[in-house]
Amino acid sequence: MITKVPKGTQDLVPGKSENWQIMEEVFKNEAEINGFGEVRTPVFEHTELFLRGVGDTTDVVEKQMYTFEDKGGRSVTLRPEGTAGAVRAMLENGLFNAGYPVKLYYCIPCYRYEKPQAGRLREFRTFGVEMFGTAEPVADAQLIAMALSAFRRLGLKDVGVQLNSIGCPKCRREYHKALKEYFTAHINDLCDTCRSRLDRNPMRILDCKSPVCKKIAQGAPKITDYLCNDCRAHFEQVKGYLDALGVAYEIDPGLVRGLDYYTRTVFEFPSKSLGFALGGGGRYDGLVEEIGGQPTPALGFGLGLDRVMMALEEQHTEFPGPIRCELFIASMGKAALEKAFLLVDELHKCDIPSDFDQCGRGLKAQMKYADRIKARYTLVLGENELASGRAEIKDMATGSKRTISIEEDFFDDYLGAVAAFEDFEYEAF
Ligand code: HAM
Repeated sequence: MITKVPKGTQDLVPGKSENWQIMEEVFKNEAEINGFGEVRTPVFEHTELFLRGVGDTTDVVEKQMYTFEDKGGRSVTLRPEGTAGAVRAMLENGLFNAGYPVKLYYCIPCYRYEKPQAGRLREFRTFGVEMFGTAEPVADAQLIAMALSAFRRLGLKDVGVQLNSIGCPKCRREYHKALKEYFTAHINDLCDTCRSRLDRNPMRILDCKSPVCKKIAQGAPKITDYLCNDCRAHFEQVKGYLDALGVAYEIDPGLVRGLDYYTRTVFEFPSKSLGFALGGGGRYDGLVEEIGGQPTPALGFGLGLDRVMMALEEQHTEFPGPIRCELFIASMGKAALEKAFLLVDELHKCDIPSDFDQCGRGLKAQMKYADRIKARYTLVLGENELASGRAEIKDMATGSKRTISIEEDFFDDYLGAVAAFEDFEYEAF
C-alpha cells in the first residue's frame, strides 16, 4: 500500500511536470496581464469557513470534505475549492483598504472525497481568479473573456461557454416557492438527499447527479422566468458585452452550479471532446458579507487543471519537453571529477544546462548516461586533459570534435566550439 498513491490522486513526474509548468504559466500570465496578483492561502482552513461559504446543503459540504480534528481539538478541512479561502484572506489582510477592485489569482491543489473517474480526482489542481468590489456586468464578461483567452493561447480548440443567471435572493424567493411546488409533486421519486433538500434548498435538486432526479429536474420551472428587473438587466448587459467581443455562448437555464454562494451570472466552460466542464464560475455578491466583511459584490472562476491537461493531451498538443542537457562533462579520477564539478558550476552561472557524474561511475557508464539524457555535447576529462589544460568537446549528433581550453578560456572556447558545430558566427568577448 505504501508504494501506491492514494486513490484519486496522481504524481506529476519529470516528462509530464514540465508540460504542467508551461500550462500553469499561461494561466498565471493571463491573470497578470489583466492586473491580478497571486494569493497563497493555507491548504486547510477552519471547517466553519466552508460550511458558511460553500453552503451546508451542497454535495461538496455534505459528502466530499476532508474534515478532521487537529491535535488541539479544532475542526479543520482540506480546502475543497479556492474561493472561500481567497475571500477570507482578502478580508483578513485588509486588501480592500487599498481600494477596489481587488483582483486575486491562485494555482492550488484542492481536495474532494469523490468517486474517482475520468476527470474526477480526490486531489485536483485548480487555477482560479477572484475579483472583489464591482457589481458591473462588464466585469462578468471580462472574466469569461480572460479564461477563453488563456484556453486560446494554449491552443485548446473545443471549449464552449454555457451561461445563465440565477438571480439574487429577492427573485429567488418566488422561484424557490415554484420549485418546491414542482418537486413536491415528484417527492416519491426523488433520491433521499434531494428529499432532504426540498425544504432547505430546492435549487440544489437541479444539480443532483442521480439520473432519476436529473430527469425530473428537466421539467422544473426555470430561474430565468423569475428574474427581478435588476437581475434581468444585469444579465442582458453581460450578454451584450460578450456579443461585442464576439464570444459565442449558449444560454443554459438549467445551469445552477454546485456551490451555494452564486448570485446572478453563472458560467461553465464545457469541453466538447471530453464531455465535462474544464471550469466554471460566476458572481457571488453575498459571500463577502456572509464571511464577515462589508457587503461587497464579487465574482470569479475556477479551472480544473487536470482536466485542461486531459483536453490538451486528447488533442495531441506538442509541448517543448524537458530542458535538454547541452554539455555533459565526463571525468576519470578524483582530480578530474573536481574539475568537472567546477566547470559545470561555471556553465550553470551562465544558465547553460549541463551536468557531470554524481554517482562515481566509470567512463563507459557516464557516456551511457550522457546518451540517455540526450546531451548535445560531451567532454571527457582525465589525467592528460588536466595536465595539458585542454580537452576535446564532441558533438554527439555528428561525431565532430574540437579541442577547447578547460582553464580561463573555457567558457569562451566552449561558445566558440558550439558556434562552429552549429555553423554560426561567434565573436569572442
Ligand atoms: P467548481 O465548478 O466546483 O467551482 O470547480 C471548478 C473546476 O474544478 C471544475 O469545473 C472542474 O474542472 C474542476 N474540478 C472540480 N472538482 C474536481 C475533481 N474532483 N477532480 C478534478 N477536477 C475537478 C469552484 O470550485 C469555484 N470555487 C469556482 C469559482 C471561483 N467560482 C467563483 N470563483
